[in-house]
Amino acid sequence: IDQYAVVGHPISHSKSPAIHTEFAHLTNQSLQYTAIDIEPELFEQTINEFFENGGKGLNVTVPFKEKAFAYAHQLSDRAKTAQAVNTLILNKDGTVTGDNTDGAGLVNDLLQSTQLKDKRILIIGAGGASKGVLLPIIEQVPQSITIVNRTFSKAQSLVEQFLPYYKAINAVELEKIEDCFDVIINATSASLQGQSLSINPNIINENTVCYDMMYGKDDTVFNTWAKQQGAKKVIDGLGMLVGQAAFSFYLWRGVTPKTDSVMQQIRDSMK
Ligand code: ATR
Repeated sequence: IDQYAVVGHPISHSKSPAIHTEFAHLTNQSLQYTAIDIEPELFEQTINEFFENGGKGLNVTVPFKEKAFAYAHQLSDRAKTAQAVNTLILNKDGTVTGDNTDGAGLVNDLLQSTQLKDKRILIIGAGGASKGVLLPIIEQVPQSITIVNRTFSKAQSLVEQFLPYYKAINAVELEKIEDCFDVIINATSASLQGQSLSINPNIINENTVCYDMMYGKDDTVFNTWAKQQGAKKVIDGLGMLVGQAAFSFYLWRGVTPKTDSVMQQIRDSMK
């Protein structure tokens, strides 16, 4: 039976084994998917052993996405621009390809609620999560992308990195942003720590769609705030999580699983 796994540190909280096991069930694919906790210094060794022992593909999560990027023999364009890999695929010739499905998972989920073409988009945060999704967002041809970050210099370097692909991208200081946006994506880890952002509420009006990459049992801190400012719609990151998994599953198995029942199962399990 074909072996797959998610690797990270820590990994016990991961929902990926449950998600992929259900995808396999839904698509009649015979495979086994487990979670492997790796001590950081043993990353390459553990991955080598996994593939030598018949492993066919891996998902990679915190803190190994950059290590997986360095490990892969070939990289997709979206992995190259993200400089991070969340999916490793064993090829027939024994080489390993690195891809990044996070951005596709996010964009696919956002498109269920709003087009991104010609929209003014604000991305809050300039860490790995933002970098990982920028190329797939740019591919939707928005009118503009603005990046704000607590540490302004990080927003500036992200803009410099993506300017060759897309001209309408700019950086603004978190405390100085004043414009209103069509779509706002919170890619900070602030909600994870239950913290609110010190950002101008004028960024939101009644037409604004807000997306927090985090998710939980209740509305995230950011989405609670966005609702209070009168946002048209708030969405949490569960769809991105399940979506990136579905795109990884497709890369390995060539079939795209339906995601709605899996999302509902996870929502129910959090109640
Ligand atoms: P990730 O890879 O998940 O993006 P990261 O690289 O540590 O993680 O980045 C976390 C992001 O959340 C950064 O943009 C960080 O801002 P700084 O670059 O200024 O550190 C942002 N962040 C985390 N907590 C925040 C808070 N309380 N207010 C504002 N931004 C916050």
